[in-house]
Amino acid sequence: MPKSHSDIGLIGLAVMGQNLALNIADHGFQVSVYNRTTEKMAKFLAGNPATPGGLVGATTLQELVRSLTRPRRIILLVQAGGPTDAVIDGLIPLLEQGDIIIDGGNAKWTDTIRREKALREKGLRFIGSGVSGGETGARFGPALMPGGDPAAYKELEPIWNAIAAKVDAKTGRPILGATPGKPVSGGVPCATYIGPDGAGHYVKMIHNGIEYGDMQMICEAYYLIRSLLGLKAEEIGAVFAEWNKGALDSYLIEITTDILQQKDPVTKSKALVDVILDTAGQKGTGKWTSVNALDMGVPAPTVAEAVFARCLSAIKEERVAAAKILKGPAKKSYRGARTALIQAIHDALYCSKICSYAQGFQLMREAQKEYNWTLNFGAIAQIWRGGCIIRAGFLQKITEAYGRNPRLANLLLDPYFNKTVKEAQENWRKVVALAAQHGVAAPTFGSALAYYDGYRTARLPANLLQAQRDYFGAHTYERVDQPRGKFFHLDWPEPARPQIQA
Ligand code: 6PG
Repeated sequence: MPKSHSDIGLIGLAVMGQNLALNIADHGFQVSVYNRTTEKMAKFLAGNPATPGGLVGATTLQELVRSLTRPRRIILLVQAGGPTDAVIDGLIPLLEQGDIIIDGGNAKWTDTIRREKALREKGLRFIGSGVSGGETGARFGPALMPGGDPAAYKELEPIWNAIAAKVDAKTGRPILGATPGKPVSGGVPCATYIGPDGAGHYVKMIHNGIEYGDMQMICEAYYLIRSLLGLKAEEIGAVFAEWNKGALDSYLIEITTDILQQKDPVTKSKALVDVILDTAGQKGTGKWTSVNALDMGVPAPTVAEAVFARCLSAIKEERVAAAKILKGPAKKSYRGARTALIQAIHDALYCSKICSYAQGFQLMREAQKEYNWTLNFGAIAQIWRGGCIIRAGFLQKITEAYGRNPRLANLLLDPYFNKTVKEAQENWRKVVALAAQHGVAAPTFGSALAYYDGYRTARLPANLLQAQRDYFGAHTYERVDQPRGKFFHLDWPEPARPQIQA
């Protein structure tokens, strides 16, 4: 017997919406569901007749709203941008003071800030929650990054904590094994209140920027092993399987292992990865991260390189034409020891990954100043331990680093990461040099190394740059022997070139 009123409503029954609804129902909550096309909703209900909490179909927004307990909680899982605004506009006249709309899509954080403000002015509450983990995550435990009014989140917290992925309290390792109708019990939920207005969606965007970096780095490792050592996909898969047992242990390495071992169902003999066209798609969250880094003036080159690598891959026809004209070094395969090179590539991947995460956390540090948030970096790394796409053993080290020093200026300065990079950097440098010598593009490995070298350099060549700016545009410079904030200009066109204090 369904309850007279559902615990929560959900709008948008595409893959993520369906899976999240089932996850919520598995935890004993009754969910009212609505989809723009009623047929899809009816099919979804027919396919899932018996869930622990129960699913209730609504054919109109009015029906959905009427079916909920108060304050109403309604999750939106619709396309980001215009479609989200359209659904919110449709809901506003139907809701009452204190009701809560939760946007679980990949919304741009500035949109979330705007929507939260507009709804607050109408007495409604808005939570922008990052939901990571794809289809499986949504079904059996995603990582959840909610932002908005803290009191509104309190109303959602029991559901969010219940449906989130769980990690072991001591080890931080994900607790696996959930099946339909039987979620895992115990453990620490991968959900935590992130901060006001757009903070949750901002942190989700950084997650995605880091995801872009991780994916591109793995691709570079694969490509270097293939190009320099001539290993086949399956053999490279075996290398990744080994790596997954150590410091690189992560979901993305795990799926890469599986992917590399997959045969093509059409040719049967070839590896699937060898028949997939080399043009990457993207929906924009990596771009948002990079644009935001540029806007705030925070160096995040590795994430940006990962986005550009996708852009470069996408101009396939141009590359095919250029490949016939532009020559690189004469192709020689690597002559050194295979095991040592594989270890070096492993180290290059690990060091680059540390730099990429350092950049992501730098962005969050700056954003909290910009938007007046107080972000808990250790807790953010902790909720990324389970459920999300970048989940990795490595994140535990980040939580520990912020536990040692919550005001850490840069992850690279933490004793663990400092030591790791110090020990592995010879291999990292060797791999970047080999990539250049062999003409193999490895943009994130190279960019991360340049970031590391730039960040650890007390005096960069920007002295010359300032002189150039002053030369052609009288943009002034500061001097090493004068206090900061005092600016000078050299009168370059004047034969005597006197220095003037600006
Ligand atoms: C996640 C993913 C998810 C989605 C990406 C894909 O955390 O579950 O990040 O949000 O898979 O948005 O992004 P691209 O299409 O841009 O690669």
